[in-house]
Amino acid sequence: MHTKFLYTIALLLVSFQLLVAQQSVSTYKYQWLNLGMSESPEKTQAFRWRTDTTSANAVIQFREDLPSPDLTINAKTINAISVTYNDYGIVKTYHKATLENLTPATKYIYRIGDGNQKWSEWFQFKTAKEQSSPFTFTYIADVQSGIVSHYPRVFRKSVEVCPESAFLLFSGDITERAEDEELNNFFYAMSWLPAMKPIVVVPDNHEYHVTPGIRSRTELASVWGHLFSYPQNAPDSLSRLGNYYFDYQGVRFIMMNSKAFSDYEKPYKYQVLEWLEDKLKNNPNSWTIIVHHQPMYSIADGRSGTTNQKYLKPPYDKYSVDLVLSGHDHGYSRIGLRGSKSKSGKINSPVYVVSVAGEQMYVSAYPDSCDRLASNTQLFQNVRINGNVLNFKTYDATGKLYDEFELIKKKSGKYMISKIPDYEERTELPISRKRKYTDEEWLQLEKHRQEYLGRITTK
Ligand SMILES: [Fe+2]
Ligand SMILES: [Fe+2]
Repeated sequence: MHTKFLYTIALLLVSFQLLVAQQSVSTYKYQWLNLGMSESPEKTQAFRWRTDTTSANAVIQFREDLPSPDLTINAKTINAISVTYNDYGIVKTYHKATLENLTPATKYIYRIGDGNQKWSEWFQFKTAKEQSSPFTFTYIADVQSGIVSHYPRVFRKSVEVCPESAFLLFSGDITERAEDEELNNFFYAMSWLPAMKPIVVVPDNHEYHVTPGIRSRTELASVWGHLFSYPQNAPDSLSRLGNYYFDYQGVRFIMMNSKAFSDYEKPYKYQVLEWLEDKLKNNPNSWTIIVHHQPMYSIADGRSGTTNQKYLKPPYDKYSVDLVLSGHDHGYSRIGLRGSKSKSGKINSPVYVVSVAGEQMYVSAYPDSCDRLASNTQLFQNVRINGNVLNFKTYDATGKLYDEFELIKKKSGKYMISKIPDYEERTELPISRKRKYTDEEWLQLEKHRQEYLGRITTK
């Protein structure tokens, strides 16, 4: 009896110690932890996350990565800036921190916590190189719907196909309504990866709330300013709407809110154009990529891109922009060679790409100007810049290469090589969209598709 009693006490003690040990590791409860892009990614790293309001203070602890478990030795701790904010009745504390004076091309390790014993696990990240140097990034368009059902397979396949991707770039419409649950889903779908690789996002129409009574999207979701970190390097009125630029290892990226650009009156448009022109003109980088959600050339049935063509095409051509990445049309198009009618492969205009990652699909307008088109297909892209060559690959959700091209810069100009794989163009009408059309209209769309197929086979 005495032995049994001692045994029970010993078991209880072990259980208690295990419980304490479990509680002292990883008990910091947080959400939405993500790395942002900064103006100088070679020496600066920004972070955002949120907690409930009982964690009013937050810290970040970091040091260079090392193989031993002694991660706290020589680690530095800095305080985050925290603000409690009510987003449509959901009150959370949002935290932001920026690590500065980091060493370029270096692996770091960090954890976040409440500054009072509670910590997250340790995460790694790597700073960019100081000079132009080869890198790959992942481009994902319109996650929007099916965030936890259909998007994860695309995202996970993108990580499998390109684990070395330096950052994840989203061209807008990451959710349908920018609401709390959807944003939870967006981060859930990607698990710990946003805590290790920068998330580069530009907001657009589905980052706006539907204004009650108006039924149109007039206000950029106010939570946007707390969600992601991006360089505040555009004039204030542009910056608060998510416009910014950054340079990454020899490439200038300009991120533009195209909903604001098309909706707002001329004074705003001219302000954007002035900023854009300045960033294109004073650009020491070899390559320029512009990201705006609403495309230059629309590919969705019943849409156009006339505002963008009127205002944006002239500066893009004038300053030899290389690539424009968009979404919005829930289909795929690559316009370069055929659009420019170039026979030698020499091109003077940017290559325009529209893509979609999520579940929602639109009917294609089947334009003849595309080098490659797809409908009813979930896709992701890897873009690699290596010296004078930009390699662009589009994969479908199964991981099969769907499209590829290269841009090569020579003394005599810029050339495009189309490398379309042996994969029949996917043109099927998205059956999920049929409810938007009458039977008669649907038959017309099918006829239109067949006419397109007839044209491309005779090209
Ligand atoms: Fe969309
Ligand atoms: Fe959109």
